[in-house]
Amino acid sequence: MAEPRHVLAIDQGTTSTRSIVFDAAGREVASARREFPQHYPDHGWVEHDPEDIWRDTLATAREALEKAALPVAAIGITNQRETVVVWDRANGQPIHRAIVWQDRRTAAECARLRQDGAEPLVQARTGLLLDPYFSATKLAWILDNVAGARARAERGELAFGTIDSFLLWRLTGGKVHATDATNASRTLLFDIHRQCWDEELLALFRIPAALLPVVHDNSHLFGETDPAHFGTAIPIAGMAGDQQAALFGQVCCEPGMVKATYGTGCFALMNTGSTPPRSQHRLLATTAYRLDGKATYAAEGAIFVAGAAIKWLRDGLGLITHASQTDDMATRIPDSHGVYMVPGFVGLGAPHWDPKARGLICGLTLDATAAHIARAALESVAYQTWDLAEAMRKDGAGKPQALRVDGGMAANDWFCQFLADMLEVPVERPSVLETTALGAAFLAGLQTGVWPGIAALAGNWSLGRRFLPRMDASQRQRMIAGWQDALRRALSQPD
Ligand code: G3P
Repeated sequence: MAEPRHVLAIDQGTTSTRSIVFDAAGREVASARREFPQHYPDHGWVEHDPEDIWRDTLATAREALEKAALPVAAIGITNQRETVVVWDRANGQPIHRAIVWQDRRTAAECARLRQDGAEPLVQARTGLLLDPYFSATKLAWILDNVAGARARAERGELAFGTIDSFLLWRLTGGKVHATDATNASRTLLFDIHRQCWDEELLALFRIPAALLPVVHDNSHLFGETDPAHFGTAIPIAGMAGDQQAALFGQVCCEPGMVKATYGTGCFALMNTGSTPPRSQHRLLATTAYRLDGKATYAAEGAIFVAGAAIKWLRDGLGLITHASQTDDMATRIPDSHGVYMVPGFVGLGAPHWDPKARGLICGLTLDATAAHIARAALESVAYQTWDLAEAMRKDGAGKPQALRVDGGMAANDWFCQFLADMLEVPVERPSVLETTALGAAFLAGLQTGVWPGIAALAGNWSLGRRFLPRMDASQRQRMIAGWQDALRRALSQPD
């Protein structure tokens, strides 16, 4: 019998879990998706129930496999990054709900560490900054706040993982505790230059080494699924954090290539080749992927709220019933009428890193309508991307030939055009918008012979539509000046 040529990708995101079966040409064959509950137990706190995540992962994977009705060569996992799970090694039960990357509860601890002068060391080793976004302070919070957890962690009874590790553990029936170089790179505990856990950082954040998973390349035989899950053992052969997986799925494998993914947040990554970037403008350096032991790096700008602003229009304000309506609303009006939104709902990420910033809508007059607010929300995501592009430019990066976009908001034509106008670069939307899942499939398929090597992947990327900049410079400058004014009001004042 011929070897299977399909790959199942599991994409566990912040608000939903998707499983997609791809064929060897990178085309979607079958998929399943589920949204899961968010928990907000306190101001600025965001938690997920790991059991919801596990249940949906299993259900969507089974459904996609059933729909495809084909054997798969391998599974690739990609996931919301930084989110922390701690579980009991004996029974696999989490000891606390997952603390999500958006959660701000450790802002004061990060400020304290910054005041103590720890940030230069952290930035030099990890490429990251001291912000509650990353895993280490959230992990320490669980150890300090769950009765007995720290002592149990020191005795080796507990395991820590980002969502990839937790799913790997469950899928392999508790046999494998591992992660990959990209997810490890988001914890604040991993030296991205030496590509290993860093003892000095473990001491700084008070994290016992016994908690940590083993770190592998992104294409690697991580383990096999417990046959009880899918009726047969399937190799898990690729893993990557979702933004790195999207970079890979967009085949941004040459230095200087950039992608931006518009999911819950927006994450723009530029491939910088074998050299980790050193940003002077508060961008991050991160492992883009590691293959055959060789790391490729990326400069990253992380915006916490993109699609989440549209979700808020729907669920918080009730202005729309479906995200796709915003395209039409924005097109219907000639301009935003001076209305700006700064979506600082969970503080602001790159390049401001202001956990105390809060959201605002300004410039309202009595003739402002729901359409102006919807348009301001879409525009705010493009302006934030402009902030990232500016930081990249000031860091010395040349103007990219194009920005490759993906994720839910990339389906919005109006948004893509506005983005091209603001950035003054062509915006390229691929025909497959699920590039995060595709990247995870590529990583798993490279390991199992579905694709022979990176060079073969480029043939699987195809352009859906290109948006060329067309706004005149003075209008763009006026609009950006308005954004910068709104932004100043949203940033927190120094204590
Ligand atoms: O760093 C957080 C990021 O991985 C979340 O991605 O797609 O769930 O917004 P997403």
